[in-house]
Amino acid sequence: MSQNELQILVIHGPNLNLLGAREPEIYGKTSLEEINQILTKLAQEREAAVKCFQSNHEGQLIDIIHEYRTRADGLIINPGAFTHYSYALFDALVAAGKPVIEVHLSNIFKREEWRHKSVVSPACLGTITGFGADGYFMALRVLLKKLRETSIQE
Ligand code: DQA
Repeated sequence: MSQNELQILVIHGPNLNLLGAREPEIYGKTSLEEINQILTKLAQEREAAVKCFQSNHEGQLIDIIHEYRTRADGLIINPGAFTHYSYALFDALVAAGKPVIEVHLSNIFKREEWRHKSVVSPACLGTITGFGADGYFMALRVLLKKLRETSIQE
């Protein structure tokens, strides 16, 4: 890792391990493995590195956020259904004290009403929702740009 290489933690929440097979009409045909591979390549091209992590368990998602609290420069998270009710995840993101971008493959505002609310959004710089796998790639680009702008100002 070079000195100015930025480290990004990418977190995928419950059921996202089934991407590609799970309701492809909603979530697309790209697998999680493919998304992670593209993110890795995009990061390398931009002098950055991603650590991708998926879990179906809230506590494991919180643990990885704690583990990377000092190591990661920024986070990208798709909390899956935890988006809508996990105050514990919100607290962990705030405690991390790093810039976070929230991603959803589907447009949560076009779906059931219970999906319209995200309890993690207030811990995030912003949310990208409804652009499928591209949302992750947009998030990486924006996050790296923000991190580099911040380090120039310091
Ligand atoms: C999701 C949207 C959530 O409402 C849902 O529970 C998911 C995936 C998305 O990426 O569109 O699991 O976060």
